[in-house]
Amino acid sequence: MYFENLREYIQSLEKTGQLKRIKTKVSVDLEIAEILRRLMYQDEGPAVLFEDVEGYKIPVLGNAFGSLRRLKIALDMENFEEIGERMTALTKLKMPHGLLNKFKMLPKLSEISDYGAKNADGGPVTEIVETANPTLDSLPIIKSFPKDSGRFITFGITITKNPETQIRNMGVYRLQVINSKKAIMHWQIHKRGALHYQMNKENMEKTEAAIVIGADPATIFSAVAPVPEGLDKFLFAGITRKKGTNLVKCRTIDVEVPSSAEIVLEGYVDPNELNIEGPFGDHTGYYTPPEPYPTFTLTGIMMRNNPIYLTTVVGKPILEDAYIGKVIERAFLPLVKLFQPEVVDFSMPAAGWFQGLAIISIKKRYPGQAKKVMMGLWGMGQLSLTKILIVVDQDINVHDINDVIWAVTTRADPKRDTMLIENVPTDTLDPASPLLNLGSKMGIDATKKTKEEGYDRPVQEEALADEGTVKLVTKKWSEYGFQ
Ligand SMILES: Cc1cc2nc3c(=O)[nH]c(=O)nc-3n(C[C@H](O)[C@H](O)[C@H](O)COP(=O)(O)O)c2cc1C
Repeated sequence: MYFENLREYIQSLEKTGQLKRIKTKVSVDLEIAEILRRLMYQDEGPAVLFEDVEGYKIPVLGNAFGSLRRLKIALDMENFEEIGERMTALTKLKMPHGLLNKFKMLPKLSEISDYGAKNADGGPVTEIVETANPTLDSLPIIKSFPKDSGRFITFGITITKNPETQIRNMGVYRLQVINSKKAIMHWQIHKRGALHYQMNKENMEKTEAAIVIGADPATIFSAVAPVPEGLDKFLFAGITRKKGTNLVKCRTIDVEVPSSAEIVLEGYVDPNELNIEGPFGDHTGYYTPPEPYPTFTLTGIMMRNNPIYLTTVVGKPILEDAYIGKVIERAFLPLVKLFQPEVVDFSMPAAGWFQGLAIISIKKRYPGQAKKVMMGLWGMGQLSLTKILIVVDQDINVHDINDVIWAVTTRADPKRDTMLIENVPTDTLDPASPLLNLGSKMGIDATKKTKEEGYDRPVQEEALADEGTVKLVTKKWSEYGFQ
């Protein structure tokens, strides 16, 4: 079952015993964040609805997507690769050569029209509209860590349009509140929102932006997903949900938002108004230092009656965003395989905060192929920001860190098999890169080497038990007294 909105999802969490309602009064100042972190560091901590937030009438939802079990409910699927498979199926559409092909295309075309966004006249998000004197003051925006520079909207979806193509984007970028009408927009330079801003800035224009706080799970997931610039993220949300999103027009800007959202902040980002953002306790586990970012000015607010404010807390992994990252890893595997067909599996361990480290297994056919895959991945969207890539053979389980360490230590020679590339884009948040957004990358080719790759010794055979003995011991296992 797909969810139309956040509250249907909350009901489902409650029914399955995965939601805790906290009725005790709590503060937005550090307390909510500490509770959410503490629950996430426990195994399978619940989602939490804070019903009594000191000084605010709006309840706060946190850790809503903080386990794979919850994400399976949220996206209504057991295997997240389905999302990528649906995407790659759409790319297999062929131009019709004849009648037969035309008929074959029809179901696919009707699927696309089902997945696409639709414009609606109104919807629940228009129940309350404030355009005369909108303020951020009624929102229970939290402060996460003691040295954070203020309170941050951490799970808002920023919607912008590419000024040339009008293709819409949704991205989760945090916003630091500086007064009742302004917040600093932390869209990092490599992200689509920042691109739209840059394009408008070149024409000395402001970027209209809507910030959606609280939406149906497929919309939220799509905003976090690294979807390429040419694809409307509402279409991606429709592909994920198998149903298009109903959109309504904002009242003060030319941007559409999901009609079933909880809260929408309308406004613009002015290239002439930079402010210093941060420090902020980030998902690397460190405070990201202060940097200048542009400022969002509020021009209107739409919200439901009795809205729910969605938040999240980042920090040293593993917290809520790690689970969302795992789903992205699985969902994009079919797309990685589309461009790098030798790829068998792919893992971005959560402790490496996703851009830090990725492990890829390949079916190797020719010399140097592991390095070819590395260079391919470093050229693909947000994967280009990955700092360390380890490539292993297909017999290695990329999700078993011991198996990976075994491959690195037995199949790689540091001098021959390590590739270092200097002065390349790095994740903005990387605390170790020598310059902001620029540093080096390391690729480790931990595949078995051939003569052509400079391995001149006789290849050492892996020591494995023979099949006969394995069968014999299996047969007699209980006779030895084992279960
Ligand atoms: C909780 C959370 C907070 C995030 N905060 C930011 C942020 O402040 N700035 C940013 O550029 N990306 C942030 N991201 C990552 C982006 O949402 C992600 O890279 C997304 O793919 C960006 O979309 P885009 O490629 O359409 O810009 C955050 C992700 C999550 C899950």
